[in-house]
Order: sequence, then structure tokens, then C-alpha cells
Amino acid sequence: MVFSMLVNRKLHNALMINKFYVNYFLLFFLLSIALSAKGQQQSARQHLNFDRSWKFSPGNAADPEKDFNYGIGNIFSKSGETSNTCIGVDYADSSWQNVRLPHDWVVKLPFTYVKNDDIDAHGYKPVGGLFPQNSIGWYRKNFTIQKADSGKRFELQFDGVYRDSKIWINGYYVGGHSSGYTSFAFDITDFIQFGKKNVVVVRVDATQFEGWFYEGAGIYRHAWLNSYDNVHFKTAGGVFVYSSITGDKAKVFLKNAVENKSLRTLADSVYSYITDRNGKIIVKGRKLPVSLSVNGVGELTDSLAVSKPRLWSLDDPYLYRAISLIIKGGRTVDSTMVRFGIRSLRFQSDSGFFLNDKPVKIKGVSCHQDHAGLGTALPDYLQFYRINLLKKMGVNAYRATHNPPTPELLDACDSLGMLVMDETRLLNSGQEYEQQFRDLILRDRNHASVFMWSIGNEEYVTQRTDIGKRMAQHQLLLQQELDPTRTSTYAANLGNYYPGVNEVIPVRGFNYNLTGIDAYHKQHPLQPIIGTEVASTVTTRGIYVKDTVRAYVPDHDITFPSWASTAETWWKIADERKWFIGGFAWTGFDYRGEPTPYRWPNVNSHFGIMDMCGFPKDIYYYYQAWWTDKDVLHISPHWNWKGKEEQPIDVWINSNADKVTLFLNGKNLGTKAMPRNGHLVWSVKYEPGRLQAVGYKGTRVIKSTVETTKQAARILLTPSKLKLTADSSDAVVVNVSVLDKNGREVPDADNLINFTLKGSAEIIGVGNGDPSSHEHDQCARGHWQRKLFNGKAQVIIRSGTRPEAFTLSASGSGIQSANLKIEQDKGE
Ligand code: GAL
Repeated sequence: MVFSMLVNRKLHNALMINKFYVNYFLLFFLLSIALSAKGQQQSARQHLNFDRSWKFSPGNAADPEKDFNYGIGNIFSKSGETSNTCIGVDYADSSWQNVRLPHDWVVKLPFTYVKNDDIDAHGYKPVGGLFPQNSIGWYRKNFTIQKADSGKRFELQFDGVYRDSKIWINGYYVGGHSSGYTSFAFDITDFIQFGKKNVVVVRVDATQFEGWFYEGAGIYRHAWLNSYDNVHFKTAGGVFVYSSITGDKAKVFLKNAVENKSLRTLADSVYSYITDRNGKIIVKGRKLPVSLSVNGVGELTDSLAVSKPRLWSLDDPYLYRAISLIIKGGRTVDSTMVRFGIRSLRFQSDSGFFLNDKPVKIKGVSCHQDHAGLGTALPDYLQFYRINLLKKMGVNAYRATHNPPTPELLDACDSLGMLVMDETRLLNSGQEYEQQFRDLILRDRNHASVFMWSIGNEEYVTQRTDIGKRMAQHQLLLQQELDPTRTSTYAANLGNYYPGVNEVIPVRGFNYNLTGIDAYHKQHPLQPIIGTEVASTVTTRGIYVKDTVRAYVPDHDITFPSWASTAETWWKIADERKWFIGGFAWTGFDYRGEPTPYRWPNVNSHFGIMDMCGFPKDIYYYYQAWWTDKDVLHISPHWNWKGKEEQPIDVWINSNADKVTLFLNGKNLGTKAMPRNGHLVWSVKYEPGRLQAVGYKGTRVIKSTVETTKQAARILLTPSKLKLTADSSDAVVVNVSVLDKNGREVPDADNLINFTLKGSAEIIGVGNGDPSSHEHDQCARGHWQRKLFNGKAQVIIRSGTRPEAFTLSASGSGIQSANLKIEQDKGE
């Protein structure tokens, strides 16, 4: 019953949206223009990046002496007691490592074989309960705040610390946070020594895992120091921007939560306005009076009309800005800026999902958050890089599995036009997990990209029970309270089983088991259905023969574990059913851990449509052929099969051409019609030379070739961009391959390549997508190096501070080196 009420609510609501992410750099730029125009004073709010100049040391979960006496110093006996630990202000930390955030200490640990399912699932890195010497990390950072600022409030914000963190300022315990995935902030005003040295100390305890995939450890997302007036917008959920659309008009609602931490009752006013993305004011709101008791919170909602709104869509992800100000006696004391999109969302059980009233089939991927060379500590640029790769493949939706993503991932999705299913870590309505879901919604509900929430994934036992149903109901009500503009799903691996969570979930999520959906749909015609997780096809890039020793599976759409399917199987099911919303293929990229179907020496998953570096596997072209309008004509495998002369080789063509003719060294091997959502295979007797496919698409002809290459002669470096901002945060991805003397990429090369960098920038990680590689992702014994895996490797470089060019050099034995010059400027 409750379920159908929720569904009906959804069906009758044209859902709309909002966005909340405070980009303060832009904020101040825009505000200074806007406010100077109005002759008002700029507010004092600051959002300072707190990533630099941290000291780091491992501790020890089993030996208090190696854990800086934590556990034997009675630090919780008195306020500010630090005993003989490393928590005190004057502790000498000069021998600790210098690190800057984001920082994942696990990425440097060696791969280690232990017969244990959790270690296997986490990619054979020695962290967790079995490795107490690697599972505690201590961080310290000094900072100063001027006396002149002593009237403000200060807040320390962490966007992700894995996990179980405890935080002290100047020896005073400020609080702890157990989740490794949600953002959190503490008001630290009371503990600050103005005009003197302050020290923040963070103890991170990664003894306990949260997931069953590589999770890293440390302060692996950004940290921020926020400061603002005593009267301010609340950090969590302070401004909620959402909209409704009728005809060619939109109403934008701004729900502002104002908090009074001053010592007096106050009467102020709140005022909001909306600008276009260039900062031009479009519409101004009303001055809304607010009176606040001491420690009181006032909530005010204004609604502003935008006529002929430019709607946020996948092809035109247009973002407006909503600016809210708190005005006290004519002076602006606080201001925030939210980038938001105006668009509607609708889920219909009989016809699928609609964005701005247009049907959109979800061509989605699930992803974990780690990347080759970096573990979980990604520069923001990598978020944009990865989402861009997915867009090019034709992906229109991203499922953040199985945890809240970093805010920068959502920024990338907002800006590039990618829908997001935002998932809380697990299904539980107890205080801790209710809070995690609350934090997630309050943080992310203004993001245009977020189109639905997920309240959990595959709670094997619980999902069938009354307890599961009650917990789900609790979380769904919370979601409706905090964000009535969206709906939720739950990723159930239950086939067409119904009782339990499925009784109350507004949108039924199927993990695999898609053969059950027709019967389920018939029995539950009012419940929209989505493939929350599908595929799990396993492939290794550039491998065409199953290799159980090195632990590789062929790079064709043929291998999958018992619960899973080929790409072709699930996508045909999805494409043929109008009412089926679409699905999220497991996974967009390989990730560390879950080496299914193997174990050691395999340390990475094979589920990715791209490998850990983002290099496409062949299956990528299957999806690209059927998910985009681009001309796709992809031949696999490569044509370097020395020793296999005269033997038959299966040649796959992934294409969206109507028909394809294949030629080997000019000889016509026949023409075949391409089945919709399918692929073509020829069995070809190998002879070296040139394999050419000619595709006929309507009246057009498209061509593609693979050739037998000679051995590697020189290195090719291909950067993702040629200019960086010299802010020591920007990054570039440089892909590495080798060419033969005729300039052809050698697809099976495995040369060892050495990298050096001259100039103001630094290499921060290397990778090659080999799921069984145990090479160093980081600098080892002073060297950066990596073997090519099936012709490819990757170097990731972070910018420096000087606006001048740097050079990356790559060398290898018996081949010509390459130098790549990349410019750096101060940015805009
Ligand atoms: C699913 C699970 C994912 C991953 C996947 C591998 O059941 O939700 O996290 O383990 O299987 O196929």
C-alpha cells in the first residue's frame, strides 16, 4: 500500500531539480561583480583549500607504543589531555613524511598474498585487521588564524576520510567520524589560538573494511577550512535549490537555513537572486525577514520565476547560479552560491524514465572510485577525465557504487551532462546509517546530475525480511522529507521475488536476473523497473586466449560469472522493452580488487568496459556502436599472431553499420548484415598483413583496418591536454604506446618504459591496465617506470606552482625515447 502511494506520488509528480555545490572561487568572483553593482559589501565567508603541508606517519593498531602511545595515554580523562601521544601541539613531527591531500597510503603498499576473502576482494594490499602495522595513519598540520579574524566562526571540513577518523585541534578532541565515504565538518572555533600556531591532528583507522573492493586508506579527498559570520547559512543543507516547470516557465525555490551562533537574538533578512552561468542577474527575490534566537535556525523559502528556462539536459547541461545573502543592517554578512540546473524527472512504470518530458533509456555504468596509479586519491581533473571517457562511449548515467562519491565527481557530471544514481553505503535505518543517508542527501540534493537515490545494494538476507522492509521504509521517508523532488531505488539481487524491501521501494531495482522482469512487470504494473546492476562481463584488454596462469580472460563479449551475462544479452533485453528504464553495466572501469573469476596473482577486477587506466576494451565498441550515433567499425583482435599462421582466428566486428565486408590482404571474406544490438564474427585463417572492414551505413561507406606490425621502434606520448594551470592541483593524463618503424602502434608490446620529469610538476602515478601486474604504481627506489601491457601504459602528472613548461621524458631499451613538453600558466 505504502509502496503504491509512493509510486503514485511519483507518477503524478513531474519531478524537478536543483543543485547545491558551493564553488567559492567562482562565488567570490560572481559576488564581487553582483555586489559591487548593488553597492553592497562582500560577505566574509571563506572556503579555503586545506590540502597542503600535512605531515603523515603510520601508527599501529596492535602496538600502542608504535601508535604514539594511543591507547595507553589516558587522553579522554580530561579535556585537552594529550598525554605522551602525538596529539599535542608541540609534538615534534619533523621526521614524519610530507604529504598533501588527497592521500591514500595503501597505494604504496606492496601486493601481498594472504589466503583471505577480504584481502582478495580488496586487491591483495596488506591493510585491514590482519595488518595492524599498515592500518593506522596519523596526520598533523599546522595553521595560523589572525587575531583580526577572532570574531568569526571556523569549521574544518573533510570530504572523505577512510575511515573511522578522530580529530583534535590543539590537543582538544573535536569529534570522530566512522564512515569512510560521507563528507563531514566540525565547528572548531572554540579551540583556535588566534595569532598563534594551531595544530590539527587526525587519526585514521582502516582496520575494518566497509566494502568488498579496493577502498584505500587516509584523507583521500579534499579538506577545507571554512569561515563565516556568526550568523550564517548552515553547512549541511543550508541552501536547497529546486524547481518546477510549467510550460515555458520555471519556478525556482530557494530554501535557506540560517543559523545564529552569536550571543544575541537577531532580526536580519535573507535575499536571493539567480544569475545565468556568466553571472548576469536574471531574477531577484524578495528580502525575507528572519528573527533568530540564540542558537536558533530559521528556514525561509523564496520562489523566483524564470521564464523560458534553458533546461539542463544530457546534451546541454546548462547550469544557473542561485545566490543567497544574509543582510544585517544593510551589510551582507554571509553569502552562498549554488550551481543548479532546471529540469524535470519522471519515472513511469509503463514507459520508462523521462528527462524534461523526453524519454531517456538509461545507458548506465556502475563505478568504484579508484584509478590506476592513484588508488582513491584522485586530482579533480581525473573526475572530469573519467566522466568524459564514459560520455564518449555513449554512457548517460553513472551509478556511484556502493558509497557516496566525492563532490567533484558530481560537479563533473553536472557540467558534462551525466545522470547519477547516488547510493548510500548500505541499507540500515539505525542512527549511524540514517545519518549517512541524511548527510548524502543534504550534500548532494542540489546537483542537477543526481536523478535518483539508492538506499542500498544486495543485502542478501535482509532484503527479503520485514526488518529490511521497515528499514527501507524509514530511509524512504527520510528521503522524501529531505528531498521530495526525487525518488529512490534499491539494488536487489532477488530476481522477481517480491516481499521485503520490494514492497515499499518506489522504483524496483534488478541486479542481474533480467529474465524475471517480464513476469515481475506483469505482476507489479505500477512499479517502474530499472536494471540497477547488469552485465558483469569479464574481459582483459588485448588478451584473446584464456590464460589461467597469468589470470586473463579473452577480450570478447563471452565470459561472465554465474549471476551475470554478456553485454549483448542484457542490452537486447533493455532495448526491446519501452517500460524498462535501462540499466547500469557493472562496471565502467576496472578497479582494484574483486579479481573474479580468478584469485592471486590477479589483483584487479576484469569487469570494466575500460581498464583501470581508461583504455577501451573491445566490449567498449559494442556499447559505443549501440549507444551513440557515431560511426563505429571496430575490428578485433589485433593482427600480430606470429606462429599462428594458417590457424583459424575469430575476428569480431563491433559496428553500427547496416552490413560489413571483411578483406584479408585484399581478399574478400564475405559480407554480413549486422543484427541490431549484435556483432559479427568471421573465422579467418591467419596470415600476416592487412585486415580491412568496410561498413555500409545508409548511403555511406566507413572503413577500418588492423595490420601486422613490426617490432617497436619508438615511444609515443599522448597527453590529454597541452596546458595546465600552475596551481599544484591541476593534472594531465599521458598515455604511452610504442610505434613500429612505419608509425603503427604495436598492440602486443610489453616494453619497460622509464619516466623522468624536468620542471615544476610531478608524476603522481603510473599504470598499464594489467589486472595481474604487481609493479609499483608509485615511485620506487627513485624511479618511475612501467611496462606496457598490450601496448599501453599511463602516467599521471600533477601541475606545479611555477607558470612555466615542464618536460616528461620516456625511454626504453632499444627504442627511441620521447619527450613531451607541457605548458603551464596561471589560469584565468
Ligand atoms: C554484485 C555486487 C557488486 C560486484 C558485482 C560483481 O553482486 O553488487 O559489488 O561485487 O556483483 O559481479
